Amino acid sequence: MTDEKRSPGDLSGEQVSLSTRAVWAGESEYLVQGATQVPVVYSAAYGYPDVDTWIEVATGRRPGHIYSRNTNPTVQVFEQKIRLLEGARAATSFATGMAAISNTLFALLSPGDRVVSVKDTYGGTSRIFLEFLPRFQIEVDLCDTTDHEQIEAAIARGCRIVYLESPTNPTLKVMDIPRLAEAGHRAGATVVADNTFATPINQNPLSLGADLVIHSATKFLGGHADAMGGAVCGDPNLVEPIFHFREITGASLDPMSAYLLVRGMKTLSLRVHRQNESALRIARWLQAQPAVEAVFYPGLETHANHEIALRQMRGFGGVLSFMLRGGFEAVKRVLPRLRLAHRAANLGAVETIAGPPATTSHVECTPQQREAMGIPEGLIRYSVGIEDAEDLILDLSQALEVL
Ligand SMILES: Cc1ncc(COP(=O)(O)O)c(C=O)c1O
Repeated sequence: MTDEKRSPGDLSGEQVSLSTRAVWAGESEYLVQGATQVPVVYSAAYGYPDVDTWIEVATGRRPGHIYSRNTNPTVQVFEQKIRLLEGARAATSFATGMAAISNTLFALLSPGDRVVSVKDTYGGTSRIFLEFLPRFQIEVDLCDTTDHEQIEAAIARGCRIVYLESPTNPTLKVMDIPRLAEAGHRAGATVVADNTFATPINQNPLSLGADLVIHSATKFLGGHADAMGGAVCGDPNLVEPIFHFREITGASLDPMSAYLLVRGMKTLSLRVHRQNESALRIARWLQAQPAVEAVFYPGLETHANHEIALRQMRGFGGVLSFMLRGGFEAVKRVLPRLRLAHRAANLGAVETIAGPPATTSHVECTPQQREAMGIPEGLIRYSVGIEDAEDLILDLSQALEVL
């Protein structure tokens, strides 16, 4: 036995579980003067007494910070925490999830490149694919999300990026990450996976074969609907050019948001395990309701991709969606009756949140575009909070009585 002193949160050489990592990872070297929480460092720039040291830091030969658009101590804690939760060698952060997605795509793609993805990625992502990338002569091939053979064939025709999102927003389709990552690598592509819905507690795309994993930290990572943020994790050779692009575009994460995200992430495992359990229970209950036409949740045995979900997920997540008999008119009658749900364009928070795709995930799209993506107007996306599941079921039950 040695009496070696270690700082709190020093996990070097430790094999600890995801829940322990969520609490401690990334913090030890930033705790100052005995503080048990990381400080919010609100400084635009960092000063050096002599030019030699300054140059060493500026050229990356010595650790430190130069300017908060590039790096910031509080932001770095967030980056370390998500990096360790995703089991990655590098991570960088962004002001929002969309900044993470757009900076990744624009950093890695050039005119003449081709991207293969699917029709029902998150609405903002699909706007990048349909509206912005084509302007830069980047071809985008959006396949049917459930048709893995079609996706594989599109990848085999050659592409620079395979872009996956699983489970998808808002219809909770599940994509076979190992299978599509293998197809991507055969074609020499970089495989990117949006892991926002699953969270690192339920799924680690890098260990399933993806090269980069993306998060909207605004959702489950922060978990309290009070801070926006995004992250990209993967190998340094891929993360470095994305970080460099973000240094210049300036889509950096604010230190206060980084602090709120770090604080939220400490309870990520607790929240997500509870949300997994409640969502499955509520999905099963909804299935038995006459007013409900269909329920989409990867944890249901009846879900089209349940087998894939079982292979690659440790839990099925806190979001489900369901279709009401009576379409959009029924949605308009049921939603206002919910007492235990914010009707808002968000998900992944401690409070339950409900809304239709027309005002949430796919607000950027026309009804025709949503139809083309296979997103029904009569759908309600229901993000289960950490309330008691029985209370949520009673709330849904009284709301459905109107139909
Ligand atoms: C799956 C997914 N990815 C990315 C985003 C974009 O994240 P943000 O709103 O933080 O820009 C969202 C937002 O809802 C999302 O659901």
